[in-house]
Amino acid sequence: MAEIKENYPLGHFNTMGINVNARYFAQARSIDEIKEILDNHRDCFPFYIIGGGSNILFTKDYNGLILQPAIKGINILEENLENTVIEAGAGENWDEFVEWTVKRGLGGIENLSLIPGSVGSSPIQNIGAYGTEVREVVERVNYLDLKTLKMVSLPNRECNFGYRDSIFKNHLKNRTIITSVVFRLNRHPVFNTSYGNLQAEIDKHGSISLERIRNAVIEIRRSKLPDPAELGNAGSFFKNPVVESARAQAIREEYEEMPSFPVDESFTKIPAGWLIEQCGWKGKKTGNAGVHEKQALVLVNYGDATGREIADLAEKISRSVFSKFKIELETEVNII
Ligand code: FAD
Ligand code: EPU
Repeated sequence: MAEIKENYPLGHFNTMGINVNARYFAQARSIDEIKEILDNHRDCFPFYIIGGGSNILFTKDYNGLILQPAIKGINILEENLENTVIEAGAGENWDEFVEWTVKRGLGGIENLSLIPGSVGSSPIQNIGAYGTEVREVVERVNYLDLKTLKMVSLPNRECNFGYRDSIFKNHLKNRTIITSVVFRLNRHPVFNTSYGNLQAEIDKHGSISLERIRNAVIEIRRSKLPDPAELGNAGSFFKNPVVESARAQAIREEYEEMPSFPVDESFTKIPAGWLIEQCGWKGKKTGNAGVHEKQALVLVNYGDATGREIADLAEKISRSVFSKFKIELETEVNII
């Protein structure tokens, strides 16, 4: 039976390091424990699911139950000449899972090394980094449907994956508890080193391998992203905006150096970090909240910031980007 804790401090359960309390807190180690909580502890509701708390911002105490699915286990379901199909529990740590696959020579998620959080959250915003998105290897997502209380195994093609997007953020928002994710990994890895300075970083260490890609990604990430253990943050606070290519072209006429990435024939992605930097926010600090000095897309907690302070700073940043570029930034972080 899952233990329900009362007035539980969440400071260590969100990487922003916001010191709020949950009225109730529970970890569920199995599907049965999740069902037991849903059946027997309705008096503690509403409830909110967290994994590693690396993509959320608490703006006040949570007056309900914070439920953390802590279902563990990494199991090989199928092996053939090409692929290994693996089911990993929602409560497995994402980066430890990446390390596990790299050690076994299985390709597909090495570029997603060092992303914080749990396996269960990885499909929700279709985590991505260094030219790879998790949708490329997700076979299916297993979840408990909170409306029917039945288990569902949703195949990749029905997950509606997009850039930092999936069905779990839209049609199925607040309707699922993901219990495990099934991945199809490659026994003959195809290396993807086209992003930024990834290839150059690998070249410093010799010939290419999964391990070298993983180490290079870790090296690059450590050089520009703050470590939440030292400086509270939730990674990119906003998504990179996708705008009509004509709009991007108009901006480029004024700012020749603007970085951009074509999405398709009509649309272009502009790095939000660049837009925010152009508005003069990089390295700025207001009270305990600030904009990281090496990556303007990352908002940081310099100590005792409240979630409200961070959210207010985010709003000011959005407003100034809109007033300078007429581009609306969309928040990536879940504000609670
Ligand atoms: P949480 O923050 O705990 O939850 C996120 C959302 O998912 C919440 O809405 C929550 O309710 C829901 N949720 C969590 N678990 C479940 C579940 N089992 N069932 C149903 N709903 C659930 N992201 C990237 O894509 N790429 C990056 O490169 C990247 N870099 C980062 C770097 C840093 C330093 C940090 C702090 C964050 C970074 N992120 C990045 C964001 C974050 O790590 C990912 O979004 C990650 O997948 C969040 O996992 P989590 O377990 O911490 O989720
Ligand atoms: N840039 C600036 N100023 C800044 C930051 C970035 O000009 O302060 C420019 C860089 O010079 C570069 C471009 O923006 O030309 C892209 O920068 P970077 O490679 O650092 O990536 P990003 O677009 O800022 C995205 C993801 C990250 C992911 C990296 C690497 C989003 C919202 N963010 O950031 O994901 O790790 O690419 O692939 O898509 C996250 O989602 O939390 C996250 C950290």
